[in-house]
Amino acid sequence: RSLHSAVSRGSSHLSRRGYATEPAPERKVAILGAAGGIGQPLSLLLKLNPLVSSLSLYDIGGTPGVAADVSHINTRSEVVGYQGEEQLGKALEGADVVIIPAGVPRKPGMTRDDLFNINAGIVKSLAAAIAKYSPNALVNIISNPVNSTVPIAAEVFKKAGTYDERRLFGVTTLDVVRAKTFYAGKAKVPVADVNVPVVGGHAGITILPLFSQATPQANLDDDVIQALTKRTQDGGTEVVEAKAGKGSATLSMAYAGAYFADAVLKGLNGVPDVIEPSFVQSNVTDLPFFASKVRLGKNGVEEVFGLGTLSDYEKQGLENLKGELAASIEKGIKFANQ
Ligand code: NAI
Repeated sequence: RSLHSAVSRGSSHLSRRGYATEPAPERKVAILGAAGGIGQPLSLLLKLNPLVSSLSLYDIGGTPGVAADVSHINTRSEVVGYQGEEQLGKALEGADVVIIPAGVPRKPGMTRDDLFNINAGIVKSLAAAIAKYSPNALVNIISNPVNSTVPIAAEVFKKAGTYDERRLFGVTTLDVVRAKTFYAGKAKVPVADVNVPVVGGHAGITILPLFSQATPQANLDDDVIQALTKRTQDGGTEVVEAKAGKGSATLSMAYAGAYFADAVLKGLNGVPDVIEPSFVQSNVTDLPFFASKVRLGKNGVEEVFGLGTLSDYEKQGLENLKGELAASIEKGIKFANQ
């Protein structure tokens, strides 16, 4: 429902500006890793988005089936499946937005950093292909560890001479989605009305929800806020354990990925005041990448917002996360340059 109301909010902005009768512009979205646990429901949700005119589904295998299946749905976009590296160029050509959920997910007992060795290589090679075939696309990285894979992509783009910090995003929306749901439960308010900024990074203690800025305000006790913070930080692990070896969050991640892609597309289309948290190149702290609210526009990131007023507990959380986040960023940069 939120996805739909988000979409209709966008079109009402357009109608107020007087071009309601014009169709939304042509937009090609490519999903790399489209046959996976996240990739399949993400493909479905993007197929439902009226802002997409062309949906390109790429994976090392399985995409002809996913594409044939999704293509029968009665919505605007043309769907094409691409399989294997020799088709990656075609999959990317002309893409406005590229979403990357390619890679291995966690099993119980694993941290996101345990995925580094496999996923870092996958993201490095996909980023090289983006630099070659769709250098102007807005790139949304879902593959973990996001704290390292985003810096890897940035380094690859820098080497290729295509880097524009406004066009690279780490998708942290699932942390926001979780924080909203958990907060709504405790504050006893409808989740559709809730807003909670989440800043920092996307792993364990680097995920810092700012419940002091949550709306509607609820004056929850400190111990409740601390439990909510911990649950948001461990939300991914909650799903990994419940799935007991069958992977990590896929359905809620697909929702979050589709929600963020919709925001990026609205920004591209000139809808004003599209603001979502994302892990981007940043001057908000002394770390080179950091998640905070960003304004999305025709060039991607138009403005990175600061942190606002933090509670003492959040200030402490911010200090505690800096070491780990800095190390993860550094690890990504090193990997990309070796
Ligand atoms: P999955 O194993 O079900 O699917 C991954 C897909 O990637 C597979 O279809 C595989 O064939 C494909 N793939 C592997 N190498 C590829 C390559 N070089 N090019 C294109 N596709 C390739 O895994 P799942 O559950 O979909 O998770 C994917 C990633 O998303 C993992 O890294 C996971 O940790 C991450 N994730 C991120 C979240 C976030 O909040 N940012 C939340 C949940 C998961």
